[in-house]
Amino acid sequence: MSHAMRIWTRRRLLGMAAASALIGATAVAGAAPADDELYQALGGEEGVRRLTAELVQRVYADDRISPLFKETNPKFLAEQLRKQFCELSGGPCRYDGETMAKSHATLGITKADFHALVEDLQLAMAAQDIPFRTQNRLLALLAPMHRDIVTR
Ligand code: HEM
Repeated sequence: MSHAMRIWTRRRLLGMAAASALIGATAVAGAAPADDELYQALGGEEGVRRLTAELVQRVYADDRISPLFKETNPKFLAEQLRKQFCELSGGPCRYDGETMAKSHATLGITKADFHALVEDLQLAMAAQDIPFRTQNRLLALLAPMHRDIVTR
């Protein structure tokens, strides 16, 4: 396979995973895990910290959406995401931040913005060698949040 073809295939796969996570989300909305299996699969405390730090780095470097973050402290955001992903995946943390509706209400986030962030997350997970199945389980938990985050 040519290099260009490989890149194209990879982009297609990422796009499809994002789309299927969004569609699949309707069925699993609110289905938080009852154990910490997903948390462990993500690498536990260190893994979730590394993942959310890399997600924030990628988001701030992503020209499609970085302007939306210009007034947000990246350290604060990474810490909030760390606690949120930890709790969501069954880890021993409690997310104590704002609701998704309230914290995104005035940002005017589009579906395309949402997909861009999901793609950054997929790239961060792939870069950290998180297995595809584990990636999809986390995405399925996050995807229903688009209802509160996408406002236009
Ligand atoms: C599943 C997708 C997303 C999740 C899980 C998520 C999660 C979060 C969390 C946990 C916070 C911190 C809230 C707080 O404690 O104040 C936050 C804030 C923020 N999010 Fe998201 N977010 C998502 C999608 C997006 C998208 C697509 C954008 C824009 C492209 C975005 C832009 C922001 C901004 C700018 C803030 C900071 C707001 C402030 O400074 O008060 N988010 N998000």
